[in-house]
Amino acid sequence: MAHSKLSLPVNRVAQIGGSGYSPAAMSDTSKVLYEGKAKQVLESADPQHYILHFKNSATAFNNKKKAELEGKGVVNQKISAKIFQYLQENGIASHYVKTLNDTDMLVKKVTIIPLEVVLRNTAAGSLCKRLGIKEKQELNPTLLEFYYKKDELEDPLVTEDHIRILGLATPSDLSEIKTVAHKINGLMITFFEKIGVKLVDFKLEFGRDDRGHLLLADEISPDGCRLWDMKTMEIMDKDRFRKDLGNVIESYNEIYRRLENS
Ligand SMILES: Nc1ncnc2c1ncn2[C@@H]1O[C@H](COP(=O)(O)OP(=O)(O)OP(=O)(O)O)[C@@H](O)[C@H]1O
Ligand SMILES: [Mg+2]
Repeated sequence: MAHSKLSLPVNRVAQIGGSGYSPAAMSDTSKVLYEGKAKQVLESADPQHYILHFKNSATAFNNKKKAELEGKGVVNQKISAKIFQYLQENGIASHYVKTLNDTDMLVKKVTIIPLEVVLRNTAAGSLCKRLGIKEKQELNPTLLEFYYKKDELEDPLVTEDHIRILGLATPSDLSEIKTVAHKINGLMITFFEKIGVKLVDFKLEFGRDDRGHLLLADEISPDGCRLWDMKTMEIMDKDRFRKDLGNVIESYNEIYRRLENS
């Protein structure tokens, strides 16, 4: 797809700096196809699959705030893997194939639909800023928003008509995405409730494989979810980084610890 950064592997490899090899990834012979803010996408031995390498880099506010957080790659890979496995057991098709090591997973290659699909169960973040909605207000029914994945435009909120005009997805793609996204939301609410965590909101990305099947892709981790401890309302997600609350990775690790023991 014209909008997918992965449709331009040659440019991307050139941007990365020439060697085309990743020092961080599982295999030093895997070519880096795309260097993202939080992950690298690498070629795998099989043309149908990519290796997704989770980095320690943290960014916020459209890349204006940056840091390296030791252990982030490992914990985000582990949490994402657990969530993809749980969703697959519950009938949600995703790109996840298997975990290769602490920071790397094997995923099915997809053409990413250049939309961030955001589900909000409770008001927080940009929704409150933009519309003056009070933080912590419950949103019933769940609010679903689309954002255009376009760094140069700072990922703007788009309507279904904007999506149609830009040719990012068809109305039938959107209807399929919305149905799956709401199903994922229901499953994720239960998943986190069991470990005493409130799922405030989260971001999903979808893609299509070469047979045209819609697959949930990218990652689901505290980088792209708002997660509050149900008892204390303590923030356990990337807002700790955005708001300089400290103990970012400790909170991510606590999420994973609870998931492992659940
Ligand atoms: N299965 C997949 N097949 C192809 N591309 C994928 C797959 N899963 C995730 N991606 C893409 O790989 C990239 C992962 O890198 P990362 O999340 O660090 O990117 P980013 O810096 O956030 O940039 P972007 O704005 O593209 O999301 C993203 O562009 C994501 O859309
Ligand atoms: Mg990303």
